[in-house]
Amino acid sequence: MRILKVRLTNFRNFQDETLEFGARRNLLLGANAQGKTNVLEAIHLLGVGRSHREHRDANLVRFGETYYRVEGEFEDIGVRTTIDVTYDEERKRIRINGKESKPSDLIGLVGVVVSSPDDIDLVKGSPGNRRQFLDIAISQMNRQYLISLQKYVRALAQKNKLLKAVQSGRVRASETAVWDKTLVSAGAAIVDARLLFLKDIGPEVESNFGVISGMRTGIDLAYDARGYRPGGDGATAELLTAAMEGHRELEVARGYSLVGPHVDDFHLLAGERDIRRFGSEGEQRTGVLALRCAEVTAMKTKKGRYPIVLLDDVFAELDDARTKALTALISNYDQIVLTSSRPAPAEADDLRTISIVDGKVEGGGSARESGEHT
Ligand SMILES: Nc1ncnc2c1ncn2[C@@H]1O[C@H](COP(=O)(O)OP(=O)(O)O)[C@@H](O)[C@H]1O
Ligand SMILES: [Mg+2]
Repeated sequence: MRILKVRLTNFRNFQDETLEFGARRNLLLGANAQGKTNVLEAIHLLGVGRSHREHRDANLVRFGETYYRVEGEFEDIGVRTTIDVTYDEERKRIRINGKESKPSDLIGLVGVVVSSPDDIDLVKGSPGNRRQFLDIAISQMNRQYLISLQKYVRALAQKNKLLKAVQSGRVRASETAVWDKTLVSAGAAIVDARLLFLKDIGPEVESNFGVISGMRTGIDLAYDARGYRPGGDGATAELLTAAMEGHRELEVARGYSLVGPHVDDFHLLAGERDIRRFGSEGEQRTGVLALRCAEVTAMKTKKGRYPIVLLDDVFAELDDARTKALTALISNYDQIVLTSSRPAPAEADDLRTISIVDGKVEGGGSARESGEHT
């Protein structure tokens, strides 16, 4: 799907603005802190139900206001879809074509991939960043994954509650096992899907890394299961069960669950070394870009359509050679919305430029165009 327009009401520094997008290349142009990333954040919200950089919806509400609303209009081979996400202090509502919907109806409908400077956390940050990457990427392509994830998260919360109750002597330790069955079945489905995804995108990440950096380097994506070693060969459930058994006492002592996809991680290895420890800053940036571009390709392969690609300041830190390589790499993508503080070079055609100043679209919402085509 392509995004045609978005209306932001009390969202971040936008009071009430509507932005219209071109079918192909869109440049959100503006100085620092004007609201460019906020727009990408809103599109991401319409795609997966949440911001890519803020997990508390309350922080997305314009200062001093009580609610936000983001309305998007999308198009896919002539069919229009509207998505509306509203949040007030009470709750968040999603409407698809006016109909009240669940987050699971939303995720995967549009398809979005975002790449931003914060992506460096996919290398440098905590495992939670990498799990979130996997969860959002796979959920958009695989509805069953999302369902397993929801089951898993619910069962995990229940089990943790019981583990706390065991600590305070209200429940016997053996009772926590009632949740293990769900945790194992949903957990194994999650782990297997992650293994498959990493295996699928591996070659693409390696080739992207080579294209962007201009160097041939062997890249591996290594899933790091904590406390067990899944091989993606159908034995994951047994391995998880055994690991849970083995950790039961420790889980009781700690008061929370210690084994499963909610603690697992993955690593990006370049030449068999973890890029987190041994990669230069440049290699790390290249690594996460290669990962994001592979996510785009995977989505295109799985769903038959490119996602909307949101590129936040990605060219700012790249040298000329890498800029050229990345430009070539993304040239096949369908719709792109990118941000920059510098105008595109004059030869860039097929581009719509939208200037953002202090939470407003310059020129009152009608974007300047230079040769717009589908
Ligand atoms: N909840 C909010 N309400 C009002 N303004 C906000 C809110 N959250 C962030 N901002 C403002 O948004 C601006 C940053 O927007 P951002 O999109 O990150 O800028 P950039 O154009 O550099 O990408 C800052 O001025 C910040 O104060
Ligand atoms: Mg920004």
